[in-house]
Amino acid sequence: MSWIDIGNIEDIPVRGARVLKTRMGCVAVFRTSEAEVFAVDDTCPHKQGPLSEGIVHGKAVTCPLHNWVFSLETGMAQGADEGSIATYPTMVENGRILISADALQSRVAAE
Ligand code: FES
Repeated sequence: MSWIDIGNIEDIPVRGARVLKTRMGCVAVFRTSEAEVFAVDDTCPHKQGPLSEGIVHGKAVTCPLHNWVFSLETGMAQGADEGSIATYPTMVENGRILISADALQSRVAAE
């Protein structure tokens, strides 16, 4: 698997997010704890709310528009809501955030 360096973990506040712009749309990169990072589609499947502006709690994010909750690990909507968002493998190495280049490319291929 090949990885792309997308920045320093210190650039994202704990329970915060930043947006990674790709050719095929935006990916939200969340930091949930000191060294834990998740990357998912930035667009809520309900009505396209910006998930990067949502509230992070545990390993989930609540959409800022209508409060749907998504697992950052699986991308699945929680509770009574249905739907899912794409997730992208990430890792942190020496303080740098790496995202799977293969996953980003398969996203391009899928759209
Ligand atoms: S747009 Fe996200 S819950 Fe409605």
